[in-house]
Amino acid sequence: MEKIISLCKRRGFVFPGSDIYGGLANAWDYGPLGVELKNNIKAAWWSRFVHQRDDVVGIDAALIMNPKVWEASGHLKEFSDPLIECKKCRRRFRADHVDGKKCPECGGELAAPKQFNLMFKTFLGPAQDQANIAYFRPETAQAMFVDFKQVFDTTRKRIPFGIAQMGKAFRNEITPGNFIFRTREFEQMEIEYFIRETDWQEQFEHWQQEMWAWATDVLGLKKEHIHEVEVPDGERAHYSQRTVDFEYEFPFGKKELYGLAYRGDFDLQNHMRSSGQDLSYTDPETQEKFVPHVIEPTFGVDRSILAVLSDAYSEESDRVVLKLKPSLAPYKVAVFPLLKNKPELVAKAKEVYHELKKHMTATFDDRGNIGKRYYSQDEIGTPFCVTVDFDSLEHHDATLRDRDTMQQVRVKISDLADHIKNQLT
Ligand code: GAP
Repeated sequence: MEKIISLCKRRGFVFPGSDIYGGLANAWDYGPLGVELKNNIKAAWWSRFVHQRDDVVGIDAALIMNPKVWEASGHLKEFSDPLIECKKCRRRFRADHVDGKKCPECGGELAAPKQFNLMFKTFLGPAQDQANIAYFRPETAQAMFVDFKQVFDTTRKRIPFGIAQMGKAFRNEITPGNFIFRTREFEQMEIEYFIRETDWQEQFEHWQQEMWAWATDVLGLKKEHIHEVEVPDGERAHYSQRTVDFEYEFPFGKKELYGLAYRGDFDLQNHMRSSGQDLSYTDPETQEKFVPHVIEPTFGVDRSILAVLSDAYSEESDRVVLKLKPSLAPYKVAVFPLLKNKPELVAKAKEVYHELKKHMTATFDDRGNIGKRYYSQDEIGTPFCVTVDFDSLEHHDATLRDRDTMQQVRVKISDLADHIKNQLT
């Protein structure tokens, strides 16, 4: 884990937020390479679950919603963790993260646990009074329920049908930690998939398979690093009738990566009661009227990134390689002139670089020797490197080197973009 954190900081994937002020408890900023990786993951998710399907559409809702939403959804009452305080040093912990009756820091006596609500409170407008309290959303999901009717009315989709959203969620976690694994501000990618109650088991299994396919085929995570865990009664979120967690073997242990929940009609029923609006669905052909049930596959963006980095990080005898799927890599190609002090080589390499940049993310490097440049690109997961040498000037070709096999082939400069694009899976 230390090696991954250090690589992330050194190369600009992720660094501590507000660092010049000494940071801010577990806030992390994505740097130039991190934001590319993050955007690639989000774009792949949107493509797979929205664009490639006929039965899912997206929304992008305001993240501060009417506080009645959180009353109806049960978050105001139920969305809490047990907080335990040490009577001696006054440190606070999540009760379910502490083994035993003694403070893990000072050995002091622990007080009885209290429930601590995880929602961040704020005020709308200048008056900081009760009437103006609002909350930062603790999940992106609620907007899909609240907007359900408008989405159906405007798209004329028929059930089964889903609404997808990605964006920031906020939780005042008692014990954030493990780098970007548990933070107070993070991103989610969620689908609320509306179904007939009788279909829930079949749909649950469909989404279970979809989540596996996403994690292994799209993110490229190794199957053996992912484990499904059936969450037992009493441990599920307040809204769920069945939950399967997808756990990943992170360097610090096996922990939740994603979740799949059967929320029944809990949310729509509560919003109907609370808002007084009819949120039932009428099938346009059969005229059958009912309140849909919901299957919810939920994916953390930051945990996806951490899993991808953990899976991809590898050390070989003389190099560190991030074996990212090429489709996720921040840069698809790096272009080098063989020698920095030969203007004709530099000019040709720049020309190749600018041409490739029209097709994919690319970087240029003329520092140090070729070996060092390869090493530097391997460490950030760049799948291909192109070296322009003296032969390139005469024969209009260049050396293309593969990150994983380290094999080199000569490719015509005019074919480079297509050649690389064909291998960006
Ligand atoms: N709408 C359902 C929901 O929010 P959740 O299991 O509480 O379910 C979904 O959260 C996903 O969001 C988790 O599986 C995880 O990937 C991510 N997540 C939750 N809390 C997080 C935190 N504090 N930091 C980073 N990611 C988090």
